[in-house]
Amino acid sequence: MYNTISTELNNGILEITINRPDKLNAINREVMNELALAVDEVYKNDGVFAALITGSGPKAFIAGADISEFPKLTTEQGEELSKVGHTIFQRIEDCHKPIVAAVNGFALGGGCELAMACHFRLASNNARFGQPEVNLGIIPGYGGTQRLTRLIGKGKALELMLTGDMLNAEEALKWGLVNHVTTPEELLPKTRELLQKIHGKAPLAVARVIKCVNSYFRYDENGFETEITEFAASFGTKDLKEGATAFIEKRTPNFKGE
Ligand code: COA
Repeated sequence: MYNTISTELNNGILEITINRPDKLNAINREVMNELALAVDEVYKNDGVFAALITGSGPKAFIAGADISEFPKLTTEQGEELSKVGHTIFQRIEDCHKPIVAAVNGFALGGGCELAMACHFRLASNNARFGQPEVNLGIIPGYGGTQRLTRLIGKGKALELMLTGDMLNAEEALKWGLVNHVTTPEELLPKTRELLQKIHGKAPLAVARVIKCVNSYFRYDENGFETEITEFAASFGTKDLKEGATAFIEKRTPNFKGE
């Protein structure tokens, strides 16, 4: 079905693998288009409760946008390229189901930006993060200047983007860019285990938490107001009644996402 990515549904988790290992999984137009289709499936398929994104091969998550496409682009085409990336990465960030990056090697440029658009990140101990665009005469174009600053703060974000240096996994953990560091072998099992923990929770509540946290970063929204609205809306759900009743009856809740 896909040329440059592969997807597999594994116990309700759609596992999306960027699959161009000979080019360190660089994101060309086809990857971006296919990623958009896979993200659509996360939104629409009721059999999918969460997704993980990873890279194929032992070396790279994604080593960036495909640099070979750059030299011939005009300013207008550059704008279009950036807008397409922004739209898809925003859709990942806004998804009502958790989407997590399992970073298994180089996460550079657009790869770091894709990881940052995910709800959170796990990394194997061989992961490397960076925004090396200044080395090429460009800047991050898929949200990196904004999301990196939000995640690690202005000073550290500027240092990374101005030097083009890479962070190793332990530094990324210390700087708050990733939540967990594992061995390469443990990366996918640990990511699946974390996602399966979320599987038992009330799906509408999961979606509302994501929405409220995202609201913190929207300049046209007041996150506290969003929280009041979403908290209130929870009282109209069958899941809240089920969760509260199950607690009182000392049993495991059976949430239906209603
Ligand atoms: N776009 C296109 N092709 C890329 C790529 C990218 N972002 N990153 C790596 N590749 C390709 C290389 O051109 C090479 O292809 P080839 O075998 O046909 O020559 C292949 O992937 C392997 O990469 P190579 O550079 O030989 O691996 P390495 O281990 O020596 O170095 C990196 C790894 C990640 C340090 C290096 O590939 C690199 O700096 N990549 C670009 C990173 C970048 O600037 N990303 C931001 C882009 S906006």
